[in-house]
Amino acid sequence: MKKTITTFNQAKLNNEKLTMLTAYDYSTAKIMDEAGVDAILVGDSLGNVILGYENTISVTVEDMIHHGAAVARGAKNAMVVIDMPFMSYQTSVYDALVNAGRLVKEGHASAVKLEGGAEVCQVIRAVTNAGIPVMAHLGLTPQSVNIFGGYKVQCKDEASAKKLIDDAISIEKAGAFAVVLECVPAKLASFISKILTIPTIGIGAGNGCDGQILVYQDMLGMFSDYKPKFVKQFADVGTVMKKAFSDYINETKSGIFPAKEHEYTISDEIMKKLEEEIK
Ligand code: KIV
Repeated sequence: MKKTITTFNQAKLNNEKLTMLTAYDYSTAKIMDEAGVDAILVGDSLGNVILGYENTISVTVEDMIHHGAAVARGAKNAMVVIDMPFMSYQTSVYDALVNAGRLVKEGHASAVKLEGGAEVCQVIRAVTNAGIPVMAHLGLTPQSVNIFGGYKVQCKDEASAKKLIDDAISIEKAGAFAVVLECVPAKLASFISKILTIPTIGIGAGNGCDGQILVYQDMLGMFSDYKPKFVKQFADVGTVMKKAFSDYINETKSGIFPAKEHEYTISDEIMKKLEEEIK
């Protein structure tokens, strides 16, 4: 059955953990969906792990629609959330509504995610009122990497920890149906999870969150540019892929591949006729 924001509400009420993964294409989304993940995020981490940018800043609404629609075709049951990229919602409520609308109409998202606290509450309210569920994102918000001066754990001092709590309460009041907490101390994330009525989805925020999310290339060992402390590598798919690619290269160069079983046949009679005609 298709998962919706009701799945998120119910999970919070029943104290059941939610699972999310990122995906950016049809085949991967289909495998995740078959595995039973609750929701798939078409994250703007697309910029890093798919497009090879240094950060998420250059990702466009068009990129998100292109990859989002592919994921939506593969996700039969999982809810699909698409990230609103940098400057697609910060400029005005009007821009946010237009772009969130495009992610739903053209990208086939069931919800959108955007970064920020009190400063984006007006946007969260407007987009939600327009009928589009909004997932918030607090803590390490990668679109603000140039303000943070790098990807670092956030909210360790009293003032920033208090701001995180205030922001979490504000985005809930503005109508967000869930919130991602990224790279914040586990005890703080656990406390916020207790005081909010909406589910918290942690990434580098410890076990006290109501759910977890990971970038799939990180958890499968497919992305080697950097490895955050919070990532658990569940499989070494990167090594498996590299071995398969090098086996393919070696077998092709040495003539082992393709073998007889990979060929299509044609009758000898036809071939003989063709050869005589061409002679
Ligand atoms: O873009 C992304 O993949 C994200 C997750 C890390 C939560 O925002």
